[in-house]
This record gives sequence, structure tokens and C-alpha cells, in this order.
Amino acid sequence: MERGRSLRKLVDPHGRHIHKLRLGLLDACNFRCVYCMPQNPKFMEKSKLLKREEIFRLTRALVGFGIDEIRLTGGEPTLRHDFLDIVNDLSTLEFSKFGFTTNGLHLEKHLPELRKTKINNINFSLDSLNKFGFQKMTGSPHLEKVLESIFMAKELGFKVKLNAVLMKGVNDREVNDFMDFSARYDIEVRFLELMRIGEARESFDKYFISAGEVINRLEKESVLKQVKRPIDSTSFNYELENGAQVGFIASESRPFCGGCSRLRLSPEGSLRPCLMKSEGFSLVDKCEDEILELLYKTMALKPTDRIYDVSEPMNQIGG
Ligand code: GTP
Ligand code: 5AD
Ligand code: SF4
Repeated sequence: MERGRSLRKLVDPHGRHIHKLRLGLLDACNFRCVYCMPQNPKFMEKSKLLKREEIFRLTRALVGFGIDEIRLTGGEPTLRHDFLDIVNDLSTLEFSKFGFTTNGLHLEKHLPELRKTKINNINFSLDSLNKFGFQKMTGSPHLEKVLESIFMAKELGFKVKLNAVLMKGVNDREVNDFMDFSARYDIEVRFLELMRIGEARESFDKYFISAGEVINRLEKESVLKQVKRPIDSTSFNYELENGAQVGFIASESRPFCGGCSRLRLSPEGSLRPCLMKSEGFSLVDKCEDEILELLYKTMALKPTDRIYDVSEPMNQIGG
């Protein structure tokens, strides 16, 4: 192991314990989800992306300062040619939870290798269970391949969750299908409220559907039993009578900023305080003392109330 577990507890000026890092590996993606990607996205020049060695160095410092959970995001994190190397590097550090969020395409080939690393949980974005709906939401015809990756990940023993962004009139009719899927395959499904980020801002009013509305619909079919979650969970969860596990990430109607425990490192190495804030401090080439100073400066920028919207596209922010 590179270093012992940190004894430091990072607390922001509002008393929130900051211990999770979302690490955006790149902004590129092979899907074009309607709520996320601009029509003709321009991706960052590869030379601007943090190098593998710098990702390791910065993460090692942040883990030393008190980060104990890491989630790799993007864009699509698995598109980095050195994705497995990065995972292997980070697996030598001592922290408790390691996961990534993916669209699942082409993941199968990596899964057996990933099983040998510290990665223990994988969140899949899956917005539709039918080919037509899936293509409409993501621009990709490869629903089957994504499902195969999900089943394989589950079989290999990863903790798997599905994220479905619900859009009124587009995929909200599939809520019950998702619940049947969850019960049948014993996989937690989380419904995400659409957020006013980048592309989604313009069409927000047309497509937004609140978690409350979905819960009302589900309650007509089943009793929902509340499941306890940690204070900094993005979702609140229920179990249905058929065994389905459902979570709601209701960032618009029930913001969870009060319990937020996250910082983000952007693909080019900026430490950022919040999903909804573009400000941040570049950690590139900074020494450990400087990183610690910038860490506290970043925490001081964390808002307590949900910021209304952000213009930057989601794929650049890192989900
Ligand atoms: P686990 O709880 O570890 O399973 O992961 P997660 O829910 O934090 O991560 P995931 O990447 O699956 O994110 C699910 C959704 O929550 C995405 O839409 C994220 O953008 C959203 N999300 C993640 N972190 C934050 C956050 O700090 N603030 C807000 N508002 N949304 C977030
Ligand atoms: N609103 C809600 N969720 C979004 N995601 C991307 N853009 C948005 C948005 N505007 C989700 C993806 C993925 C997660 C990281 O963020 O579907 O599951
Ligand atoms: Fe944390 Fe910002 Fe997300 Fe609120 S919007 S939960 S403060 S990252």
C-alpha cells in the first residue's frame, strides 16, 4: 500500500464531512444522450487531459488528506485507453469505496480484469429497456450489449446500480418495466430527475417529471417501504412488495446539498466544489502543501443551497 489510511477529517465551513471524490477522466463519450450532450460536441484536446501519472499523484495526495471514496466519471471513463492502468494505479491506495459510472458499452472486455482491482461498484446509465426508446435517448443502437455488460458485472459480484434519467413523454412510461427488471434481476434502479445542466436547460420544462409524481404512480401499484440511507446519499430509496429496489435522485425537487460530501476533479485537473459551479483550482503540478491549501479553498466555495442551473455541458463536469 502506498500510504496508511488518513486520520484527517475534512470538514467544510458548514460542517459537512467531505470524503468523496468524483474523478472525471475525460469529457468524450460514445453516446449522445439527449439531456447531456450538445448536438455537435467538441471534446477537449487529449493533450489537456490529466496524464495517468498526475491522476495518481493528485489522488494519492487527496486520499492522504481525507478522501475515502472515489468514483470515476466522464464523459465515458472507459474510453480512456489507459482506463485499466488508472484503476490499477488507484487500487494501490488505501480508501474504502471505489466505483465508476458508465454507459456500459464495450465494458464486458474489461470486467474480468476489473474484478482483480479495488473497484467494487459500478453504476450504469440505462434510460430505457426497449431498443427504440434506448436509441432515442442515447443515440446508440446497442441496448443488448449494455444489458450483457450489466448482467456480467452482476454475475462477477460487483455491486451494480442502474441510473435512469426520466423524461416526461419519452421514457416515463417505463417506470413499471424498470421495477419488474429490478425485482427480477435483484438490481437497484435509481430514477434521476432531469437537472438544469447544459443541454437540458432549454427542454427542462417540457420534459421534467418530479420524483414525487413517480412515487405517486408507484404507490398505486404497491406499498413502498422506505430504506435507510446515509446522510450524503444522492438518492432516497424504497423497496416494493415484489422486491424491487428503487432510488430517487431528486436533485431538483429535493436537493441534497445540505449533506453533500463531494468534491470533483475535472479531466484537466481542476478541483471543483460542486456539480453546479464552474469555479475551481487547478492542481496540476502543485506540491502537496499547495494541494492542501487549494483543497480548503475549494471546500470554502461549496454552496449550501442548490444553485439553479449551470451552462456547462454535463459531460465536461463529470456527471
Ligand atoms: P453512489 O451513491 O456511490 O452509488 O454514486 P452516486 O449516486 O454519487 O453517483 P452516480 O455517478 O451514479 O450519480 C448519479 C446521479 O447523481 C448523477 O446524475 C449525478 O450527476 C448526480 N450527482 C452525483 N453527485 C452529485 C452532486 O454532488 N450533486 C448533485 N446535485 N447531483 C449529483
Ligand atoms: N440531468 C440528470 N442527470 C443527468 N445525467 C447527465 N445529464 C443529466 C441531466 N441533465 C446523468 C447520466 C448519468 C449520470 C452520471 O448523470 O445519465 O447516469
Ligand atoms: Fe453538492 Fe453542489 Fe451537488 Fe449540491 S449541487 S449536492 S452542493 S455538488
